Amino acid sequence: MTTLTEPVFRGQLLRRAYGSGNRTVYAVHNATATVWPGDRIAVTGASGSGKSTLLHLMAGLETPTSGNRSWPGLGRSPDRDPASIGVAFQAPSLLSPLNVVENVELPMLLKSYRRGRHASGRSPPWSTCM
Ligand SMILES: Nc1ncnc2c1ncn2[C@@H]1O[C@H](COP(=O)(O)OP(=O)(O)O)[C@@H](O)[C@H]1O
Ligand SMILES: [Mg+2]
Repeated sequence: MTTLTEPVFRGQLLRRAYGSGNRTVYAVHNATATVWPGDRIAVTGASGSGKSTLLHLMAGLETPTSGNRSWPGLGRSPDRDPASIGVAFQAPSLLSPLNVVENVELPMLLKSYRRGRHASGRSPPWSTCM
């Protein structure tokens, strides 16, 4: 349940690095942000400045290399899963061999496999599409 008195998202000193050693790229470097219910926010910057990575961190689609984040206003599931955040991707992200329902189901299936709910050892049903 959404609680209007708490932020939807809170992030402190978020970093997301790609690569390693002298090839490390910090897509996001020490970003701190609080988003309240009803906020309308524009993230602007040059191409490659980290906008998409920041949004992915805020939506729970990427894991920060360091820093803290939480979704206090979205309820308190045990793992603080921000499942109720929707993301409209910039690039096409639907799999054409799947119908609409299967495309919607796919992230849920991936999530349950990641959590080990399907320990059958079989290939997941969507694997032939990838
Ligand atoms: N998965 C990735 N692997 C390696 N580098 C990445 C990855 N995603 C983003 N980057 C790099 O991080 C930086 C920020 O990218 P991005 O968040 O897509 O910026 P923007 O959305 O502002 O264009 C860029 O230098 C980009 O090349
Ligand atoms: Mg982008």
